[in-house]
Amino acid sequence: MAKENFGSKIGAILAAAGSAVGLGNIWRFPTETGEHGGAAFLLIYVAFMLLLGVPIMVSEFVIGRHSQRSVSESFYMMSGGRKAWKLMGLIPVVAGFLVLSYYAVVAGWTLYYAFTSGINGFAGRTSEQFVDDFNTFISDPVQPLLWMVAILIVNGAIVALGVQRGIERGAKIMMPMLFVFIVILVGCSLTLPGAADGLGFMFKPDFSKVTHGIVLSAMGQAFFSLSVGLCCLCTYACYFRKDVNLMKDALSVGGIDTMVAILSGLIIFPAVFSIPGIAPSQGPSLVFVTLPNVFQQVFGGMPLLAYLFSLVFYLLLVMAALTSSISMLEMAVAYFHEDHGVDRRTASALSTVVCIVLGAACSLSFGLWSNVKVFDMGFFDLFDFIVCKLIMPIGGLLICVFLGWVVDEQVLKDELTNYGQLHTPYYPVYRFIIRYFAPICIALIFINELFQLA
Ligand code: PHE
Repeated sequence: MAKENFGSKIGAILAAAGSAVGLGNIWRFPTETGEHGGAAFLLIYVAFMLLLGVPIMVSEFVIGRHSQRSVSESFYMMSGGRKAWKLMGLIPVVAGFLVLSYYAVVAGWTLYYAFTSGINGFAGRTSEQFVDDFNTFISDPVQPLLWMVAILIVNGAIVALGVQRGIERGAKIMMPMLFVFIVILVGCSLTLPGAADGLGFMFKPDFSKVTHGIVLSAMGQAFFSLSVGLCCLCTYACYFRKDVNLMKDALSVGGIDTMVAILSGLIIFPAVFSIPGIAPSQGPSLVFVTLPNVFQQVFGGMPLLAYLFSLVFYLLLVMAALTSSISMLEMAVAYFHEDHGVDRRTASALSTVVCIVLGAACSLSFGLWSNVKVFDMGFFDLFDFIVCKLIMPIGGLLICVFLGWVVDEQVLKDELTNYGQLHTPYYPVYRFIIRYFAPICIALIFINELFQLA
């Protein structure tokens, strides 16, 4: 099948960065860091980004660009025709549905916040009211569902129309803008009274807070944030041009992604310690109750500025969420379209319907169905657990084993040097990681933590 390429090298980086940078950085990272005690978690997370996340991203790029096929065909072809590897093609479909279903719930909350900013609904609210407003909103049986459906429909429409050009163009404008806004907000947040405590929480590790779940959580967060382990980036790398430097791009994307996560922490935690009644460990609501507070506290005397800033920021957040959610739906659609010949639009529409149903269950787990538990978790937490703590580590491990042990080394060398044109000083390190370090490390963490859970 002829593939349309990203038109430029920077387009390729931005599209991958668009998938990577999203609510994982701005919502999930502060949530996880807060729940796991701050600095110690951050340290482990950054180590995993570098030692596992980026090498797995490079590997997904290699697989996608080398084979230019759907995931199951890529693994089949590159393994020299071993049927069992075809099963890897199931990972992106299953994970794509699960991850998009709960991600769309949070993306829906973001859209609602953009809307509320737009009608100036935050003006004059107090800290306590922000907390109440949010809790009332997410536990409502209808409202959050509607916003989630809106996100999923827009998402489905974009994927149905074909993604490459749209993503490339969107990402080129949106990513730098989001970055500028984030940097300004960090500046604002650091002027709040709790800034010093917030910084201490983020950067002074207290290893007594390292509980047994922290390592698997930090690994899951690193994988989630980079979108690795689900073969999602294989799908994107099919569209990379032959002159893209895969290793350099993965490092750039990893760098951008880590930076955005840390900057988000620098917005959230100083605010958390400045607002009474909010605890860093309070979970998924953290970002949604602190951010509007930051806008009001910093720009309180300048209503127009507060209005504009909060509106544009939430809109950018919605777009960041969309560039990630597109890549999630694309995983499922690519499977039905490329492996089973289903027309792109039909595949997008049907997959969207499945996600609406699953997403409704996730959304309701904050209200009406808050008592429905599977393994002691509501649907939202359950899906997050399955994706980040089961599928991503297993997927990452298999990808490493595949490229490190199954595929001919020459393929790796060819792809990473662009057939001898590039000098890749890190190749030996990368090869060591995918052959030994990553598989052993992931397996040990995984087994250890799962046994502790049981
Ligand atoms: N990396 C995305 C984010 O940080 C989430 C994502 C996970 C996207 C898995 C694709 C696949 O928001």
